[in-house]
Amino acid sequence: MIRIINNCFALCTKHSAYAFRVNETGHPEHLHYGASLGWTADTPDGVIENDCAAMAEKRSFELGNTVVYSPDHKTVMLEDLRLEAASVGKGDLRDPFAVVRYADGSTTSDFVFEKAELLKGAKAPLEGLPSSHAAEGEAEQLLVTLKDSASGVALELTYTVYEAFDVICRSSRIVNGSGSDIDVLRLMSAQVDFSEDGFELTSFHGAWTREMEKETVPVKHALVVNSSVCGASSNRSNPFVMLHRPQTCESFGEVWAFNLIYSGNHYESAGVNAYGKTRFLNGINPQGFSFRLAPGEAFQAPEAVMCWSDRGFSGMSQCLHGFVRKHITPDEWQGLSRPVLLNSWEASYFDISESKLLRLARAAQGVGIELFVVDDGWFGRRDDDTSSLGDWFVNKKKFPSGLKAFGEKLKAMGLQFGIWIEPEMISVDSELYRTHPDWSMEIPGRAHSEGRNQRILDMANPAVPEYIGSTPAALLKDTGVNYVKWDMNRVFSDVFSQHLPAERQGETAHRYMLGVYRLFDILTKALPGVLFEGCASGGNRFDLGVLCYCPQIWGSDNTDALCRAHIQEGYSYGYPMNCVSAHVSSVPNHQTLRETPLATRFNVACFGSFGYELNLADLPQAELAKIKAQVELYKKWRDVLQNGDFYRLECGSTHKWICVSKDKRRAVGMLMRELAEANTQYEDFKAAGLDPDLTYRFYSTAEKQDIRQFGDLVNTVSPVHIKQNSLAHNLIARFVKLDGEAECAELSGSALMGSGIRLLPSYGGTGFNDRTRCFPDFSSRLFFIEAI
Ligand code: DGJ
Repeated sequence: MIRIINNCFALCTKHSAYAFRVNETGHPEHLHYGASLGWTADTPDGVIENDCAAMAEKRSFELGNTVVYSPDHKTVMLEDLRLEAASVGKGDLRDPFAVVRYADGSTTSDFVFEKAELLKGAKAPLEGLPSSHAAEGEAEQLLVTLKDSASGVALELTYTVYEAFDVICRSSRIVNGSGSDIDVLRLMSAQVDFSEDGFELTSFHGAWTREMEKETVPVKHALVVNSSVCGASSNRSNPFVMLHRPQTCESFGEVWAFNLIYSGNHYESAGVNAYGKTRFLNGINPQGFSFRLAPGEAFQAPEAVMCWSDRGFSGMSQCLHGFVRKHITPDEWQGLSRPVLLNSWEASYFDISESKLLRLARAAQGVGIELFVVDDGWFGRRDDDTSSLGDWFVNKKKFPSGLKAFGEKLKAMGLQFGIWIEPEMISVDSELYRTHPDWSMEIPGRAHSEGRNQRILDMANPAVPEYIGSTPAALLKDTGVNYVKWDMNRVFSDVFSQHLPAERQGETAHRYMLGVYRLFDILTKALPGVLFEGCASGGNRFDLGVLCYCPQIWGSDNTDALCRAHIQEGYSYGYPMNCVSAHVSSVPNHQTLRETPLATRFNVACFGSFGYELNLADLPQAELAKIKAQVELYKKWRDVLQNGDFYRLECGSTHKWICVSKDKRRAVGMLMRELAEANTQYEDFKAAGLDPDLTYRFYSTAEKQDIRQFGDLVNTVSPVHIKQNSLAHNLIARFVKLDGEAECAELSGSALMGSGIRLLPSYGGTGFNDRTRCFPDFSSRLFFIEAI
């Protein structure tokens, strides 16, 4: 609900309220973002106006050593007023929302209220940028226009209320209404000024193969900044952050979550001012950024997403998961099953050929996999990472009869065909570079610093996305692909567009993103029905901007189940799990050299968009049989795992998760323990998200246990002595399997959620039978929960 009552603005979601008013100097004064204030469509105007008046800042004297806004308003000091959009030069000393440099070189702006209107109909997309989408009736929108009267420059603030998900989106736009060129030096997307301090900021950091490590710091006077300058939203600092109270936990307490629908350099800051008020900002990173606007031109900032919950991190995640699934995920992929895939990368890296891949494909088909993905190495003269990016034509040595014929062979086996591309990049050793050296992002006359032996295409030049959009599009269309993995493997360096004049170089990084979005637009429209998966050396560009085109993103190049459990938990705070691609790979793991059980690799990966990435063709029959059973099981529970509600039940060295179907009748739970501890046998599984009034059957499937796990303890039961790892030991292990434990209980949803189920004890060093959970390092179990 949005209501405008004279100078008061009330924006309400199911559980939250956001309010501001236009004060006596015309500044939009922020009043409240948090718990519902009880306002409904029927609340009398006077009640809302009174509430707003009570929440407004009160002053009777000017503050010492501050700037007074004007002689007529001696008690208005912008430094300590909660604002919707702060600028610089009129007394506000905090981190600003907007900074504009005018023709005379000055940077002082004073944006005051001009008009407000409610926008009708379906939500319009933002110019050149991805944004949340809503059909008519699915969201309400408010547009507030502010003006700097000295220059005529306007600042537009847009608010979109997604009532059911407790989400409010904000975006901003500067329109040059002056008679001269101006430079936008900073334009944020959202600002929230809180009247109090005492918050903590949780953000997610990492590096390649180490994405989404959660970190919490107190917010005090020194500014806390979470940002990226690597050209992409980055694995260093994801744009999703949470402000919360120190006592907020998974199930209780207030949390304000913020994200940005943008895939480039971003900036989030939080800090307390001299008077104990906290300001939060997010938007495009101002470092190195400027954007020139001629008279009449406009600059559109990306859309920010804000969510408030007082039901802890879990409540907030539930809201955001629902919001992303409904208003970010492309319409055609909502609720649609994603295929189980096999990716060739960790199976054979660059060493691919039609014959090798067909062998792999036959193995994939044999275990029930549905989609076969040819990763890097199929094009140009690509045998390693030193060449061919930009040459999007098939390597005839590797695929003598072409890709189309290869795809047809896959289809004849009943497999869908997927392919990898990295369309934003160029190798110096490529036909494309030899023809268009000016299309590479580099500074003529300066030595270039490369990454992964490749350079970045200058997407700020509009000719580049158009050209790149047409070449692979034609090939992929002709090939009949069902899936495209869109990779991006470079951190920016030598940022420069040979297409832009000197005074516009500050636009390069943002114009690059506009070019990339244009390319996403061209390719996704040229290939309707094709599933696009985002990727950037794993999770170097995992954000809501990419998710507007790609329903799923490869979460990390780290496929180790233990690391993945942490990485997926990290993503789960702000992103639904079906956005996170996750694969079962071989052991020892290629990133950590760790050996985890096949069951654990499956149990962790099946909560994401699921697939395999290992050389199935080399696996023994016994492993293949297990994988076949996993795929069968996954298909049985796919709808729950892909479209259900995911809850973190416990994170740390023990991981407990549950995913519950929309109708709450089916759920899959997971328990994983990192390292075994002696004599800690008892474990509960306390569910979430179920229907308290339903009765459920809770069960697990008994797995046969290999006697070799018990080492030479075999001699405690064997009538003859068996030497460990001897031929005899291995032979017995082949034929004698021990029965594993199977959970089986019937209980109410309220008991399962309120108290939890006491699981069968794990092995404690004193004996083993079929009621004992054999649970060495990295073990896990899946639990199935069905309403009776
Ligand atoms: C980085 C990706 O994250 C990997 O999955 C793989 O596609 C390689 N690039 C290929 O070069």
